[in-house]
Amino acid sequence: MAPLKGQKIVVVGGSSGIGLGVAKAALQNDAEVVIVGRSPDRLKAAETALGGRVKSIAADMTREVDIARLFDEVGAFDHLVSTAGTPPPNYPIGDTDMDFVRGFVDNKLIGAVMLAKHAVRGLKKGGSMIFTSGINKDRPPVPGGSVVSAIAGSFSYFARALAQELAPTRINIVSPGWVDTPMWDELVGEAKSGYFAAMAGRVPAGKVAAPADVAPAYLYLMGNDFMTGETIHIDGGQRLV
Ligand SMILES: NC(=O)c1ccc[n+]([C@@H]2O[C@H](COP(=O)([O-])OP(=O)(O)OC[C@H]3O[C@@H](n4cnc5c(N)ncnc54)[C@H](OP(=O)(O)O)[C@@H]3O)[C@@H](O)[C@H]2O)c1
Repeated sequence: MAPLKGQKIVVVGGSSGIGLGVAKAALQNDAEVVIVGRSPDRLKAAETALGGRVKSIAADMTREVDIARLFDEVGAFDHLVSTAGTPPPNYPIGDTDMDFVRGFVDNKLIGAVMLAKHAVRGLKKGGSMIFTSGINKDRPPVPGGSVVSAIAGSFSYFARALAQELAPTRINIVSPGWVDTPMWDELVGEAKSGYFAAMAGRVPAGKVAAPADVAPAYLYLMGNDFMTGETIHIDGGQRLV
């Protein structure tokens, strides 16, 4: 495993949840970290939470001009991590709203494709890109899970093809189970604790993850130069129940 000391890591989605956990873990491993998100306020709060030891850049990955500017500003770097995403559509297919679904696809999938496109020019030899899919492709919430399931599932194939196209740059995916993040507060509000207690009772690991529980999967993929085109599931056994 290559050490991360002194390596520059760009975490898109690093202002909250899983991305913030990855940024924290990377800093603990002496990496140089740049966090990216849309909201300057969220970025400021994350900078504070990370002890001011990160650079932050506001950019919206649904806007290609933002992504191009982001990588111009970042310059040469070692690893791209993206955990960026918005809460998934949660209504049955019969009630699907085309604009909302398009917005979700734009944010999650096309945003990742555009990140990869523009990251290439600054990524150093030996570098990697890691994107985030999720348990919903394996255990879709029903109803309303088809869209998020389709998009999350596509990430593994995106990584496999891109790992060949961009070799020796490595491309991998992390697929987390449920993780306690602000996304859940937005999705289900006060019902969160009930959902989490029920899930903790079902999964073999006996708990719902915190961001710190899944961050090591990202660090592993950055550090292991023999991992590419792969999807790592880190879900406490949630796919088994
Ligand atoms: N939490 C879970 O249980 C779980 C499980 C499996 C998979 N996932 C997936 O993991 C990803 C991260 O989830 P999370 O729970 O960490 O969510 P979160 O706490 O809401 O964080 C999402 C991050 O993405 C950023 N973001 C969203 N849209 C963006 C855009 N267009 N451009 C740039 N940044 C953007 C947000 O910042 P701004 O809003 O300021 O842009 C924020 O930093 C999501 O894609 C989610 O589907 C989550």
